[in-house]
Amino acid sequence: MKIAPFELERWYVQYEFNVKYNISASCGRETTTAELLAMAGPEGREKYLNLGLDYTQNPGDPLLRQELSKLYASLSPDQIQETTGASEAIFLLMNHLLEPGDTVIAEAPIYQSLFSVAEAVGAKMKRWQLHEEHGWQPDLDELTRLIDSRAKMVVINSPHSPTGSVLSPEIQRALVELAEKRGFWLISDEVYRGIVYDPQALLPPAVDLSERAISIGDMTKPYGLGGLRVGWIAAHDRSVLEACSSMRDYTTMCNSAPSEFLATVALQHRDEILARNLAIARENMALFASFVEKHRDRLSWVKPRGGFTAFPKYNQDAEGKRSETGKNILSSREFCRRLVEAENLLLLPGETFGLDGHFRVGFGQDPRKFAVGLKLFDRFLEK
Ligand SMILES: Cc1ncc(COP(=O)(O)O)c(C=O)c1O
Repeated sequence: MKIAPFELERWYVQYEFNVKYNISASCGRETTTAELLAMAGPEGREKYLNLGLDYTQNPGDPLLRQELSKLYASLSPDQIQETTGASEAIFLLMNHLLEPGDTVIAEAPIYQSLFSVAEAVGAKMKRWQLHEEHGWQPDLDELTRLIDSRAKMVVINSPHSPTGSVLSPEIQRALVELAEKRGFWLISDEVYRGIVYDPQALLPPAVDLSERAISIGDMTKPYGLGGLRVGWIAAHDRSVLEACSSMRDYTTMCNSAPSEFLATVALQHRDEILARNLAIARENMALFASFVEKHRDRLSWVKPRGGFTAFPKYNQDAEGKRSETGKNILSSREFCRRLVEAENLLLLPGETFGLDGHFRVGFGQDPRKFAVGLKLFDRFLEK
């Protein structure tokens, strides 16, 4: 398989573990093993320490799948296939569902694997552009124009990274109806599920609305547990799950017992962890709102309604000045590279999402560290 370099991950490979401050990550505040074992209690702790480290079951630990199925109104545990992060869920689904020549329509910008894996399989990609001036919402008329006779799949991500937008219930319902009418799969990346700043923005998982919808989730984003590498596919159609399980024999085979155990504990304490991570993100977002206000001649943004990231726009030329015409601004890679070199502070260039003139900022981490990061960013912009 020939596949395009993953621009976002390549950026992080270069900088993520070398910089002092990273205010661009997309996950909730990191959760520690000690915190989870405290939640599990003395018995749970003992169980964890005595776990065998042999292979585990390919579809996933039954207890974990049971906890995961509680996140959906319409699914039983055997309608969940565990994967190694949402990354593997995307990889397996695209490889199983698509044939060369199929049309896949994906929101743009979007996390790259949601279109590059499909392209590597030979699908024809069409971009369903999100518009900043519409609060990064997609337009249904545009989608209708993109659907052709070979449309096999529409790919969405809500809450959305990097923009923080959340689909309206009307658009979600219309998408599901279109999927049923036109017979395509609606692949709904819901890794930020539950992370919304207004309870009215909470959507049902797409899989609960239709048999043509498949939801993807993970423990990485909401719970700050990326290191567990636990993700999953939630679908009605058992044959899709079985085909993904069978392909998984060649990719990762199974998760690890410690990861499955800790993921189960986190799900059993879901409300507590989500409330903590949402409170942290709210605090950071308020700091960032004041920061954008202070630099409003150079920065603008659409305030996120969900997720842990935003995708602000900057207006700065190569001399560090505001560009009067909005033209000749520094490329986002160069903007972020200069920031790393000057202040040891990491942002993610919009170009890694195919959109220059923007950067991604993330609200998941300790607010004290986030505040230091903003001070450094402030100094950089003032210079
Ligand atoms: C929208 C989206 N989907 C999927 C993933 C993959 O995450 P993981 O493999 O850690 O579950 C990411 C990671 O950044 C993401 O932002």
